[in-house]
Amino acid sequence: MVAYYSRTGNNEKLVNELQAKLGCDVEKIVDTVGRKGVWGWLKSGYQASREKMSRIEPTEKDPGEYGLVIIAYPLWAGRMPPPIRTYISENKNKFSRVALMSVSGRAKVTAERFLTLKRLLERSLPQF
Ligand SMILES: Cc1cc2nc3c(=O)[nH]c(=O)nc-3n(C[C@H](O)[C@H](O)[C@H](O)COP(=O)(O)O)c2cc1C
Repeated sequence: MVAYYSRTGNNEKLVNELQAKLGCDVEKIVDTVGRKGVWGWLKSGYQASREKMSRIEPTEKDPGEYGLVIIAYPLWAGRMPPPIRTYISENKNKFSRVALMSVSGRAKVTAERFLTLKRLLERSLPQF
């Protein structure tokens, strides 16, 4: 299953392509916070940098039913968007295996992101 958050459609496009190729289930994470325009951009960057969470719409799929959940999101200020942080926290005891995927500006998904994930999931990382 692929769970994703996308503010401007880039991650959504990638997820749609993946779904077309793999035929996997998809969960769209819907934020309840308005993030349009310059203020929305500033607020988003600030909240991400402060590692805030936001209220998300109830999700439909049970991550516990999948052997692998791929989570896709844009990096904001080098970090996870608040709705993704909420989604991971709310489901931390349900995931079996998790992978991260990101369409961002120029930043890469580095070890730091995995450490964030590890912290949110409150479990240790597998050895690579
Ligand atoms: C508030 C904000 C902060 C961002 N910070 C970063 C960043 O630190 N590094 C980066 O590579 N891209 C950054 N971006 C760019 C987004 O990650 C990029 O545009 C992404 O493709 C947007 O994905 P989406 O269309 O799925 O929302 C930021 C975008 C926003 C709105």
